[in-house]
Amino acid sequence: MDRIRIVGGNKLHGVIPISGAKNAALPLMIASLLTDDTLTLENVPHLADVEQLIRILGNHGADISVNGRRERQGESYARTIHFTSRNIVSTTAPYELVSKMRASFWVIGPLLAREGKARVSLPGGCAIGTRPVDLFIEGLAALGANIEIDGGYVNATAPEGGLTGGRYVFPKVSVGATHVLMMAATLANGTTVIGNAAREPEVADLAKCLNAMGAKISGAGTGTITIEGVRSLSGARHRVLPDRIETGTYAMAVAMTGGDVILEDTDSSLLETALEAIRRTGAEISETNSGIRVVRNGAGIRPVDIVTDPFPGFPTDLQAQFMGLMTKSSGVSHITETIFENRFMHVQELARLGAKISLSGQTAKIEGVGRLKGAPVMATDLRASVSLVIAALAAEGETMVSRVYHLDRGFERLEEKLTRCGAHVERVSD
Ligand code: UD1
Repeated sequence: MDRIRIVGGNKLHGVIPISGAKNAALPLMIASLLTDDTLTLENVPHLADVEQLIRILGNHGADISVNGRRERQGESYARTIHFTSRNIVSTTAPYELVSKMRASFWVIGPLLAREGKARVSLPGGCAIGTRPVDLFIEGLAALGANIEIDGGYVNATAPEGGLTGGRYVFPKVSVGATHVLMMAATLANGTTVIGNAAREPEVADLAKCLNAMGAKISGAGTGTITIEGVRSLSGARHRVLPDRIETGTYAMAVAMTGGDVILEDTDSSLLETALEAIRRTGAEISETNSGIRVVRNGAGIRPVDIVTDPFPGFPTDLQAQFMGLMTKSSGVSHITETIFENRFMHVQELARLGAKISLSGQTAKIEGVGRLKGAPVMATDLRASVSLVIAALAAEGETMVSRVYHLDRGFERLEEKLTRCGAHVERVSD
């Protein structure tokens, strides 16, 4: 199994190309099931989660071709992928496939809308809390679906004549359930209004693509989304938006090590709250023509408190990385996680590098230490694993991160991107 070896202490200097967003690419790929025409997605990152979803969509009958020639984008390889689901050959998403990644559960929306039925295994994915599916079920029921849970599967059927538009106000913000309800409503009879919708940029990106396919969606990116159902959707060509979590992660890496890095092909408006928090730690962040420049000179890292929140708040997917940064601050900081329970598994691994962190409920108290020291650590989930990388970049000596398949789910060519900026990071295959 691969491990990543990091020798800390180098500042970062150079250019890091930002990939297309994993969390946008996944729902966009799933949306291809809504049409018998071809959906072409550009700027799709090459990640384990994308490959897994390709297998899942193939199981439903999608014909998928990846552009033979990879489109070169800076130093990374963004891919263009064509998805054609002429016929849906199976409306069942089995446990063996869905258990590997929670987002694969989202196929329930398009399958139900297009075929009138779906049988989808209850999901798996990162072990960061219980992550139930009640909001999906209530939302789809508001469109007239009949839903039963049986033997670990969700069985959903639409009434004769298909789903009907409805009104549903989420009691709690859910990105995935917003994606699913929006996709299902595109082909429902009549108008659907979704209240307390997730406002994440990836929701707006999905709506943009669906509209290019012929859907009639307004308000995506705000708390209220209105969808006028249409009879069918066509193909389209869409470019996946930049990965704001990858952007924030590398910005924090520079804030941690010091240096001067341009993050290319990204957009600061996707992560203003996080960038503001990074600025307050002492890094300078400015906009360039094609992205963001992050600079931190000699001065130390100031302690900053954050609370995670749905967009436009501080993203939970950057919480672990920010904690990594705070481990070397010049004082005491507090990080409160409000989205997921049990999303502090990185705490004990960061402690192995010398971090001083104590937990009280959903809040972590981080007492900055003068030095971190490399150690063997274990990646526990996707975002937690990259927080270890950030800390290791500023630790003395060698850190060996095991279970890096977590990293490969969400960070494209991480070691290459960091190495080109002067970091000492290499993949070791046993
Ligand atoms: C998505 C992101 C993930 C991010 C999360 C929150 C993708 C592929 N994943 O995950 O990286 O961390 O948004 O920004 O885009 N919940 C329920 N019932 C439900 C559904 C969710 O209680 O039916 C809860 C969850 O347990 C969690 C909260 O709602 O506490 C938010 O989860 P949600 O926004 O649904 O996360 P995902 O869409 O799974």
